Amino acid sequence: MCRTGYVPFFGDWRSALLSDVRGFVLEVGAGSGPNLDHYPADVSLVATEFNEESIAQAKPKTSACIRLASADIEHLAFPDNTFDVAVATLVFCSVEQPVDGLREVQRVLKPGGKFYLIEHVRSHHTWLARLQDKLNSRWYRWAEGCNLNRDTEANVRAAGFEITYLSIRYFGLIKTMVACKLQ
Ligand SMILES: C[S@@+](CC[C@H](N)C(=O)[O-])C[C@H]1O[C@@H](n2cnc3c(N)ncnc32)[C@H](O)[C@@H]1O
Repeated sequence: MCRTGYVPFFGDWRSALLSDVRGFVLEVGAGSGPNLDHYPADVSLVATEFNEESIAQAKPKTSACIRLASADIEHLAFPDNTFDVAVATLVFCSVEQPVDGLREVQRVLKPGGKFYLIEHVRSHHTWLARLQDKLNSRWYRWAEGCNLNRDTEANVRAAGFEITYLSIRYFGLIKTMVACKLQ
């Protein structure tokens, strides 16, 4: 999934997730920018990505104010309490230390700030979770560092966020979440 830094699916989910986003927004792991044209035109967005080649391919067509930057989620060069909203789609499957990365996102969000995520995760169905566990090491090599079996919902909570919206799809393989940084 991470081979190109672009996942050409979930267009409707991206639009639905991002239609509510307002204010000063940080996107992490933006890849080559599949979310960029789904933001409302009045946001001010800093879209960041680890892989400089991927982010250089981003060509937003929207009139929203967008700045593109390279950044490692685990070491964000922004002051505490900077952003109103953070966004990550299909990212925390491949961040090496996901809870550290999530804590870093929390640090740069303002108190009460919201974090919008779509992630593929380890299913709550035991048979499927076992299959994901079994396939994970081969998948990880093929997909260049993407894990099939991350429990990102638990990681989001472990990082100190409160989850205020959760939608579970495809046998528990895909979760859409909105999490809040506590005041
Ligand atoms: C599967 S791609 C998803 C890209 C895009 N967000 C999407 O929805 O299609 C995962 C992205 O996370 C980025 N990534 C992984 N670890 C990262 C880190 N520590 N810091 C920043 N980006 C990271 C990868 O470079 C890759 O572009």
